[in-house]
Amino acid sequence: MAVTKRSNMRFCLFTAFTPGGPVGAPWYHPGARDFDYLNLDHQTKLAQALEGAFFDAIFWADFSGVHDTYKNSYATSVREAVQFPLGDPLILAGALAGATENLGLVFSANVIQDHPYSFSRRIATLDHLTRGRVGWNVVTSYQKSAWLNLGFDSVANHAERYGRGQEFLDVVRQLLTESWDDAAVVRDVDRRVYADPELVRPIEHSGERFRVPGIGVTEPSPQRMPVVFVAGSSDDGREFSARNAEAAFITARNPDGAAAWLKDMTGRLSNYGRTRDELLAMQYVSMIVASTEEEAKRKSEELDEYLSSEAALAFTSSTAGVDMSEIELDRPLGDFGNDFAQLGIFKAMAESAKDKTWTFRDVVTRIGSNRFIGTPEQIADEIEKWREAGVDGINLSSLDGVEGTFNFIEHAVPVLQKRGLMQTEYTEGTLRDKLFRR
Ligand SMILES: Cc1cc2nc3c(=O)[nH]c(=O)nc-3n(C[C@H](O)[C@H](O)[C@H](O)COP(=O)(O)O)c2cc1C
Repeated sequence: MAVTKRSNMRFCLFTAFTPGGPVGAPWYHPGARDFDYLNLDHQTKLAQALEGAFFDAIFWADFSGVHDTYKNSYATSVREAVQFPLGDPLILAGALAGATENLGLVFSANVIQDHPYSFSRRIATLDHLTRGRVGWNVVTSYQKSAWLNLGFDSVANHAERYGRGQEFLDVVRQLLTESWDDAAVVRDVDRRVYADPELVRPIEHSGERFRVPGIGVTEPSPQRMPVVFVAGSSDDGREFSARNAEAAFITARNPDGAAAWLKDMTGRLSNYGRTRDELLAMQYVSMIVASTEEEAKRKSEELDEYLSSEAALAFTSSTAGVDMSEIELDRPLGDFGNDFAQLGIFKAMAESAKDKTWTFRDVVTRIGSNRFIGTPEQIADEIEKWREAGVDGINLSSLDGVEGTFNFIEHAVPVLQKRGLMQTEYTEGTLRDKLFRR
């Protein structure tokens, strides 16, 4: 769509439909402990609080299996609830549709758990029920147990994962945007014509992995296609993003790293006839805010005491596809070649400090990186630096539980809004309109 970008930053809460919430957050932290993720009242309260603070969206990470690469076992992930167990965020989005009016509901969904034909029906239904407020974070899944339990022999290599992602996305897009004309639904009671068959057409997709000869099963929804988010940042991931994404989740370590990512992406976008204005860059950040700097530091130190290195190793081993219990963590990343070195997390690190020799230990501790600690004013100063680097939004993670999110809303949001860093009203329309219109 033709876009005019908003001047303030977008804010998205990064979480997951799982006991601890976002990646890296301990479920047993006092701030998380009273949060019962399976209780819809709690989820509603959180979503409504975000909406009251004019957050753009709530975003759920999601996986289809358990992270079991570390020590070749699921034990750590099960014991410590490392993004596990997981509810289905699409169902949660449906449950929150009526409890919210403006908040974007952005779910991750990988391209191996469903067939694109059935998946397109589910997301179009959600787009109808939310009046066009859904976003889809298209993930290709690196998780071994997900691939095995869904009937594959092993995790596909990086290039094949993105190849599959592209075909899956193409099928969904064709079903949702090309199969039905805008005017197809006539609902003419006198003629007893619900929809005009002349204005509905088969997509006739016959690809390497999927065959979908027929027409879509849902009538056109407000957005047709949910807003497409992408989080991959390897070369393959960036190409996929440049071609498809409307918003990208980035994990730069500092504003320089974000600027390098943006420069790289601007070039890639132009190869697809797109401009930088058509892609929102949402930086992952965790925050600890308090009325004094000392208090914020104290809270941050307290959080460190709750973080589990075993949980971080379990998650990172799964992401990297390498059992980190067998690796000397102080070994430089450069010692490894192949598919593994292509991973976006390593690329993002290199871009943030070119001369540094990054090690596996840096990878494992990255989950808690980019932690902004301080008073609301200090937090605003920090966000300002990222805005100057060109970043469009913040993907906020509260490692200290849902209490941390409420704390952010109460203390930081008013200051961010006063400084023009955060919106104070919602734009009319769909999530796409809200994110892109000024
Ligand atoms: C902020 C963020 C959120 C992500 N969320 C998910 C997720 O919910 N599910 C998933 O399977 N992968 C998720 N990923 C992983 C990416 O989609 C991608 O598979 C991973 O970064 C490896 O690809 P890359 O090497 O191209 O970066 C996420 C990555 C980032 C940075």
